[in-house]
Amino acid sequence: MNIIKLDAIDSTNSYIKKLSNEIAIESYTVVVANHQTKGRGQLGTSWLSEKGKNLTFSILIKFKDFKVQNQFYLSMAVSLGILASIKNGISSSLKIKWPNDILSVNNKVAGILIENILRGNFIKQSVIGVGLNVHQKVFPESIENVTSLKNISGNNYDMDELLRHLIKMIKFYVRYVEKKEFKTLKNLYINSLYNYNKPTMFKDKKGEIFLGKIIDISESGRLVVELENKKTCKFNLKEIKFASC
Ligand code: BTN
Repeated sequence: MNIIKLDAIDSTNSYIKKLSNEIAIESYTVVVANHQTKGRGQLGTSWLSEKGKNLTFSILIKFKDFKVQNQFYLSMAVSLGILASIKNGISSSLKIKWPNDILSVNNKVAGILIENILRGNFIKQSVIGVGLNVHQKVFPESIENVTSLKNISGNNYDMDELLRHLIKMIKFYVRYVEKKEFKTLKNLYINSLYNYNKPTMFKDKKGEIFLGKIIDISESGRLVVELENKKTCKFNLKEIKFASC
């Protein structure tokens, strides 16, 4: 396993993408930083993480035959890998909040930013960026519904060991993508999905609250929600938010 450790960098995702443009790097090369000065989150947000307290890393994975239309299965695989690797010693309920946040009860413990490098209709390489809150106890007021492994379990973690375990488990689930075992992956994902089949309050893009129930995930990764009037709607990430977290 090729792990590049950096003290400080703008973003591990940006760093590994640049590196792979400059030199040939092996699949599953990992870049981990003690501190990110411009950590990036989904939808153009920032990822804030206290220096030295958490894991912020990116893995570059190369694919031989992975169609763009199946890209959400990679998101499922990575979420499942993270969930499996942090479950030990945690008794509270850990779930995947669609599309790929890891939650403990209603609080986010990890986030994932996947950036794909395409050739035609195929994903040739993916940069899997993971921010996992490990030892941080206090978070800025601007970030709501957030926690860390230490806050949940009270334990201290060996960061190197945890990182290796995360990579191993992510690799384990990414094998399902490589073997095109998409059905199995989706079943596993649905089984760990936050509020699956439960009445849930959502917010639409206008900020209006509505009640619905997650009943499925579409082929392209959209959230399939059954509304109160029994109609079914599909939402992408920009169109819907959970009202509670
Ligand atoms: C999110 O939940 O919005 C995704 C957060 C992803 C953060 C990680 S930290 C390591 C990697 N480098 C980045 O700049 N972002 C990802």
